[in-house]
Amino acid sequence: MAEIPGLDFIHPLKLFDIAKKEKRLLYTSAPMVRYSKLAFRQTVYAYGTDLCWTPMILAKEFNRNHFARDSDFTISTDGPQPPTIVQFGANVPQELARASSLVAPFCSGVDLNCGCPQSWACSETLGAALMEKRELVRDMVVETREQLRRDGWAVNKEKDIDSRKGRSVSVKIRVHKDLRKTMDFITTVLGPDQDRHIDWLTIHPRTRSTPSSTPINLEALELLTSTFGNRVPILLSGDVFALGTLPFTTPLLTPTPTFTTTTTPTTPTIPHLSGLMTARALLTNPALYAGYDACPWSAVETFLANVARCPLPYKLVQHHVGEMCGPGMGADKSALLTKAQRAGLMGCGNMVDLVDFLEGVRVTVGEGGVRRDGRRDGA
Ligand SMILES: Cc1cc2nc3c(=O)[nH]c(=O)nc-3n(C[C@H](O)[C@H](O)[C@H](O)COP(=O)(O)O)c2cc1C
Repeated sequence: MAEIPGLDFIHPLKLFDIAKKEKRLLYTSAPMVRYSKLAFRQTVYAYGTDLCWTPMILAKEFNRNHFARDSDFTISTDGPQPPTIVQFGANVPQELARASSLVAPFCSGVDLNCGCPQSWACSETLGAALMEKRELVRDMVVETREQLRRDGWAVNKEKDIDSRKGRSVSVKIRVHKDLRKTMDFITTVLGPDQDRHIDWLTIHPRTRSTPSSTPINLEALELLTSTFGNRVPILLSGDVFALGTLPFTTPLLTPTPTFTTTTTPTTPTIPHLSGLMTARALLTNPALYAGYDACPWSAVETFLANVARCPLPYKLVQHHVGEMCGPGMGADKSALLTKAQRAGLMGCGNMVDLVDFLEGVRVTVGEGGVRRDGRRDGA
């Protein structure tokens, strides 16, 4: 096991613990193919995200090809290194274990994608297709934990929470139409209570065929968190668009004065929820967890500074900035740039033009981004 000088990792379960002690949910950023790369992870981390996921990486390619390793996973040895979970796509226990062994010195934990609905992934028994293969998923996480243990990592979950060598193994799932199948899946993958196979579980309460425009299935979330939430920490992925307008209430939300739900008598209560995972809303507003309902300019500037240190392909940078400068996913539809200005942004052909363009429009537009507590951008 190689120790990397200057890299120190906190056990992710410690972060769950800290959030709980602060009487709040854990804030995490979702795995997003193409988008959740280092510069973006550093940006959301600067704005209150506790734990960041990489995009899904195919374990088989990662194990066999050093170009895949170089291009798929980057960390920072000089600058902010957010607590990071590397997500893999895999369907063979030894492949997941081997890839996890390779990344363990550079991250806080590994995660298995059981949610990707894309046909290419499902046809290769990856992603959401694994929701029909519960024994295989169990075997993959058990083998991975064993491999990490053999490598010298501390994988005893809560018992190793204070160890510098603590590493986690987790799973991200969708739900089935017949929720009994999801209950069976979780029961198998979780294993015995006294020594469960996974550190935590992320639930995206949509089925493999539910479009992302359909609201998440809150009844499913309620059932699964009430059944399993006191046996394993659970994160919700899906429709976290603004912290002030979550479509449910949950014990860890109540005491936080700035982040409350607008409750009605029919608002469901989700028991035993440990944290939130956000994808699309963080793309439009990386400062969401810091209490901003709309993206502030400072978040764009932070992202561009991170890109300067940890480069991304120009087209990707342009896309990110376009997302951040448009209206967000929450009720606050204010945008940093008008539609015409965003078209101008998309016309920029390189980084220099893009930075010049933004500097030009900054002079004519407001600051953007008032926080929910009324403080201004940068305050
Ligand atoms: C562009 C994009 C890429 C995604 N890539 C992944 C991925 O690599 N792995 C994964 O488990 N989920 C992936 N997802 C799903 C998200 O992690 C998340 O579960 C889903 O978008 C619902 O959350 P949201 O409502 O916050 O967007 C992706 C979603 C988007 C929008």
